[in-house]
Amino acid sequence: MQWDHKSLSEAVRPYLKESRYIHTQGCCEMALALAEKWGCDSYKTMCAALLHDITKKLSDEEQLLLCQKYGIINGYRPYEFGTLIHADTAAALAGDIFGMPQDVVHAIARHTLGAEDMTLLDKIVFLSDAIEKGRDYPGVEDIRQMAFRDLDKAVYMSLVSTVENVRSRGKEPNEQSMKAAEAIKRLINIQENNMNETNANILEPKALLEEIIKIADSRKARNIVALHVTEQTTLADYMVMMTGTSTTHIRALSDEIEYQLKTKCEVYPHHIEGMTSNWILLDYTTVVVHVFMEDSRELYDLERMWGDSTPVDISGLITE
Ligand SMILES: [Fe+2]
Ligand SMILES: [Fe+2]
Repeated sequence: MQWDHKSLSEAVRPYLKESRYIHTQGCCEMALALAEKWGCDSYKTMCAALLHDITKKLSDEEQLLLCQKYGIINGYRPYEFGTLIHADTAAALAGDIFGMPQDVVHAIARHTLGAEDMTLLDKIVFLSDAIEKGRDYPGVEDIRQMAFRDLDKAVYMSLVSTVENVRSRGKEPNEQSMKAAEAIKRLINIQENNMNETNANILEPKALLEEIIKIADSRKARNIVALHVTEQTTLADYMVMMTGTSTTHIRALSDEIEYQLKTKCEVYPHHIEGMTSNWILLDYTTVVVHVFMEDSRELYDLERMWGDSTPVDISGLITE
């Protein structure tokens, strides 16, 4: 049977408390946004997100009955059982009752602990559960932002946050989570080593910042502001904001920064995004550049958002 969002939402509703239903919808919304960003199958993503918690409200006794029925080996510690077993039982039901394929079943089974060999779908479901819009805990906004910039880093941040949270409660974290964190860290290290080989002449963050400001200034960017943000986020060292006078101008500014850094410094952006047609973001990992049209800069007001950060004195770098 092929489900759509409405029919599957209605089908899962009786399985969920109202608050869990809302969480599931939030999870699906986030998962679909990430699926679009990272090129994952949207149908499977929707199904896994909507079904991931369908056994969450069952009692321990009911969970054990499902374990018996589906041959699930429960190796959880007593204090883990209540929070972790639903992933296994929900996966079993998703396959048996809702006819989901194996990759959807796997993604559901891995949504709380992660795994060493996570697929793209696994990562998206795991992360969406942790960062959907209803989630609110220290650091969640950093993970949300990272999820759209570097999925593996976001998964790693989320796993570390979970492991630390468990430790802070005086409990031993689940081994599968720690192994998942180690595996994804190895993957990130390999990617970063490759990136460093690409960025052969990698610039120090401050030197990179100055180079970007000089290029922007030479192409008549207006109202350039640089903020030192290491105290506020682990995502970057500096944020640079600038304004262009038209969509053509902001495109030219972004193209010029990318071109000059590539040809003069052999530095390549981690990625570039047209956040809207009036806002382009160039992510150089240590320095994130935002090129805005005037009205978008006012609307999104990142300077206010980063109000606690320290402005960098760039008066010596700009000509007017
Ligand atoms: Fe869950
Ligand atoms: Fe969940």
